[in-house]
Amino acid sequence: MRYFEQMAKKAEELKEKDDVLILAIETSCDETSAAVVKNGRTVLSNIISSQIDVHKAYGGVVPEIASRKHVEAINQTIDEALSTSNTSMSDIDAIAVTFGPGLVGALLVGVSVAKALAFGLSVPLVGVHHIEGHISANYIEHPELVPPYLCLVVSGGHTMIVLVRDYGVYETKGQTLDDAAGEAFDKIARTLGLEYPGGPAIQRIARYGDPYAFDFPRVTIKDSPYDFSFSGLKTAVINNIHNLRQTGEPIPAADVAASFQQAVVDVLTEKTVSCALALNMKNVAVAGGVAANQLLKGQLENAVNRHGIKLYSPSPVLCTDNAAMIGCAGYYRLMRGDIMDLSLNAVPYLPLTEI
Ligand code: KG4
Ligand code: ZN
Repeated sequence: MRYFEQMAKKAEELKEKDDVLILAIETSCDETSAAVVKNGRTVLSNIISSQIDVHKAYGGVVPEIASRKHVEAINQTIDEALSTSNTSMSDIDAIAVTFGPGLVGALLVGVSVAKALAFGLSVPLVGVHHIEGHISANYIEHPELVPPYLCLVVSGGHTMIVLVRDYGVYETKGQTLDDAAGEAFDKIARTLGLEYPGGPAIQRIARYGDPYAFDFPRVTIKDSPYDFSFSGLKTAVINNIHNLRQTGEPIPAADVAASFQQAVVDVLTEKTVSCALALNMKNVAVAGGVAANQLLKGQLENAVNRHGIKLYSPSPVLCTDNAAMIGCAGYYRLMRGDIMDLSLNAVPYLPLTEI
């Protein structure tokens, strides 16, 4: 029997197994991560080897360096994920890996290792969409959360409002037409001379600023109420900083950061709430690196609660890139028999609705 048919049969048998252990791998950007996840929602280990300190010197992620650092870190990260979870390779029932979207060279490291492990261990290989992983991070700490629900996905590369109809069934209700929310945080932080990644740095200094010191634009898009545009806001903030610099006066960085953060959060909240109401949703989730933002979490929670809607959000460590979320999403794919063969490749631009 060919490898793929054998694995399809194994995947079918796993549906009857009491405890299914997945070793998950995530290398799409600047975190090398491996996790062991039991039955999709119980995280036995989640090891994240961050490259942030290396990329900080360049003010952003350098793709070539990211790939090299993944190669250096991946084996040890997997070993640590196994030892921390008190499991060994022979206990693993399937391998799940992010295969897109992301940096192609970075993705390739995880995909190559995952294929080698799946073949060597003779276990099914599951390919996971990175954004599906972010969304699924919500299942880990909220056992009661089940589809359907609406999810606001806000990361460094994506800003989307997604209707999760069922496990693995997604409908994009809105998305950014230009910059992602996290990207805007990173660019404004850089202009203010703050370190990479910009989101946490902006959040930190915004605490000392007045969120209404500057009236930055909240962009709405005619005829597409759930789409976003952050490039106008970004330009307005950068122009403001440059104008202030020309006056020779010190830049009120905390006020700029707080006003920018408030503008982003207002737009994200308003569109998510109106989409949830239009779809009559009872549950809303938020996911991705920017979901770690406390103002966003607090304001969105208050706004949805006012309409009797519950907000689900992951803890900060599960908002940013990690392999546990990939193991969680991978489990539901595995249970549907949705496995990959060894021709799996990295796909840098991978639409969520086409997997
Ligand atoms: O999801 P993620 O780890 O990677 C991508 O898939 O892009 O998101 C990283 C993004 C960065 O842009 C970072 O600045 C932003 O998430 N971020 C935050 C916060 N923590 C991380 N943005 C705002 N507030 C935060 N606390
Ligand atoms: Zn991410």
